[in-house]
Amino acid sequence: MNKLITTNDQSHSVLSGQFDQSYHSTFGAIQESLHVFIHAGLEEVIYEHPVINILEIGLGTGLNPLLTQIAGAKTKTKIRYTAIEPLPLEKELYNQLNYAELLNVPKEILQQIHDCSWNVFHDLTEQFSFRKIKVKIEDWTPDFGIDAIYYDAFSPDVQPELWTKELFTKLFNHLEPHGLLTTYSAKGSVKRALKAAGFTIEKLAGPPGKREMTRAWGKVKN
Ligand SMILES: C[S@@+](CC[C@H](N)C(=O)[O-])C[C@H]1O[C@@H](n2cnc3c(N)ncnc32)[C@H](O)[C@@H]1O
Repeated sequence: MNKLITTNDQSHSVLSGQFDQSYHSTFGAIQESLHVFIHAGLEEVIYEHPVINILEIGLGTGLNPLLTQIAGAKTKTKIRYTAIEPLPLEKELYNQLNYAELLNVPKEILQQIHDCSWNVFHDLTEQFSFRKIKVKIEDWTPDFGIDAIYYDAFSPDVQPELWTKELFTKLFNHLEPHGLLTTYSAKGSVKRALKAAGFTIEKLAGPPGKREMTRAWGKVKN
């Protein structure tokens, strides 16, 4: 059974009953997501293009699309966000998440992220379109050019099948030339698989509690 937990920055996360792993760092869920996905991912592409496409592997709590919508609202860029999730969170859990309160935003966006229908884009704001697809990433092929991939699967220790050269190659082939993949994992096997798939690896400082994280570029950054 999944269980709600509170991390060190007071933001909620979920402890997965199936994988016995938390959805975020216990040092701080919001802190980690801002560091790994917003600062190291979104902010690298959002200022450069009028429309960007983001792909998230593992929607989970919906924290990443919420943070992306909030960050995007400070710019003029239109964001099309696709999240993959084969095992959606139970309503009793997502209804309790304290993100809107901590981020000081209305509850509606996170609620819509969870309650909206699958497979079609929903304009949650004029600037932010969101789509979620209930499928395993192994069984799905992107149908668009991707600017940034938020790779937020459970760790390779519990889901090694999600961190393979084959899977990364499929994603690499759908990246825009300037596109990137960002992930909290800095494991050697993950970096080797990304490199074998064609990515150029960049080691970055991790969020509090973690020494390193990985950003991977589709083509060498100019
Ligand atoms: C580490 S959690 C992160 C969730 C989310 N990004 C968040 O901020 O709450 C990993 C997520 O990947 C999902 N997942 C599990 N197997 C998957 C698969 N085969 N393909 C895509 N996502 C998967 C899980 O259900 C879970 O929501």
